[in-house]
Amino acid sequence: MNKNVNIAIVGLGQVGIYLYNELKSKKREIEIKTGKNINIVAISAKNRNKKRRFKINKKIFYSNPLKIFKEKKIDILFESIGQSDGISKKIVEYALKKKVNVITPNKALIAKHGDKLAKLAEKNKVNLEFEASVAGGIPILRTIKEGLSTNKINKVYGILNGTTNYILSEMENSNETFEKVLQKAQKLGYAEPGNPKLDLNGFDAFAKIKILSALSFNTKISKNNCIMEGIENIKLQDIKIASQLGLRVKLLGIAEIVKNQLFETVHPCLVSKNSYIGNVNGVMNAVITEGRPVGESVLQGEGAGPGPTSSSLLSDLMSILLGNIKYPFGISSNKRKSIKPFNNNNYSNSLYLRFEVKDKQGVLSLITNRLSKFKISVKRIIQTPDKKNKKATIVIITHKTTEINVRNFLSIFKKNKNILKFPTLIRLYN
Ligand code: HSE
Repeated sequence: MNKNVNIAIVGLGQVGIYLYNELKSKKREIEIKTGKNINIVAISAKNRNKKRRFKINKKIFYSNPLKIFKEKKIDILFESIGQSDGISKKIVEYALKKKVNVITPNKALIAKHGDKLAKLAEKNKVNLEFEASVAGGIPILRTIKEGLSTNKINKVYGILNGTTNYILSEMENSNETFEKVLQKAQKLGYAEPGNPKLDLNGFDAFAKIKILSALSFNTKISKNNCIMEGIENIKLQDIKIASQLGLRVKLLGIAEIVKNQLFETVHPCLVSKNSYIGNVNGVMNAVITEGRPVGESVLQGEGAGPGPTSSSLLSDLMSILLGNIKYPFGISSNKRKSIKPFNNNNYSNSLYLRFEVKDKQGVLSLITNRLSKFKISVKRIIQTPDKKNKKATIVIITHKTTEINVRNFLSIFKKNKNILKFPTLIRLYN
């Protein structure tokens, strides 16, 4: 790469605009550390006149991002639009084909098209870096690719979504409703641009677990049918009951090699308040890897927000400015294999089950009979009556049981005159 490096930023939302400002204010520092002189020569976004946190140079603004490459020589493109397909995919493919290095925080794009894009980058001998796509400011991808590179990793898991961790923690601390706390998270720039649903339903964490899994196990990004659940059904009531039991709700992403098969999942878990993961609160993310011979490693840091995300984007920039061409997934695309998926039916956990029922004779025995039919053993039972309304909340903690048993057990609990809502299920972790 030449001494003068031309940069384009496409997407000027909360992340893009923060990055723009960081690049300008750190220009000198980057030059001292890398010997390269960086210049932002093109920027692009949907709306040129939108009110932004930092002033932009409108002289270098392009309404059509594809036009940039026709008019300017670009060395590095930052894609911060955030779509899994559409213009994000188009611009990244276009840039790689034109032998432009690409840096992106876009986990939806990488989780869906990462294999193809990595191949394209390798073919054109440019870099495709995506450190900011997983766990915000935590340098986990580089740690796996470089720091832990010779270890055999067999498990990677943790808290991978800042928005949901913030919401769960803030609900517990402030007793505020889900909706109120979500608004706060959006104001802080934690939630996905335009669509917080992707954070809440587990999709965002799932995209991250797929990327982590591919990197950790040197595999292709899996297309397996997995258990993906978000926090939409978790109520303040569950958080309070859990707290009385010494537990806390966390949305965990887990990828593991079990008997040479790949298991990946994202779902809310109840963890002990005394555990490490139970104390990773607010916007914090934590990623835990288990490998040989290194053992367990833990990385914790802010998982969302423009500041931490920019930190990772700049770390990708430094890596490109300082180094050679690297494989996007640590090894050549040709060497990455697919492995057989683990059968989700055999996934086994203790369960927290909350039933909202009419306080009537026979309702509890209906539940316990059904549990026994599927050989699910009760460990603990807590019934809280609401005398005035002749209702009751029943919380059952079970011993370990398999997913298939849980599914069959739950299948009859449709809403009816005695069962007032479909039961809430939260799995206990370890
Ligand atoms: N929306 C993401 C989160 C941040 O809440 O963790 C970007 O990955």
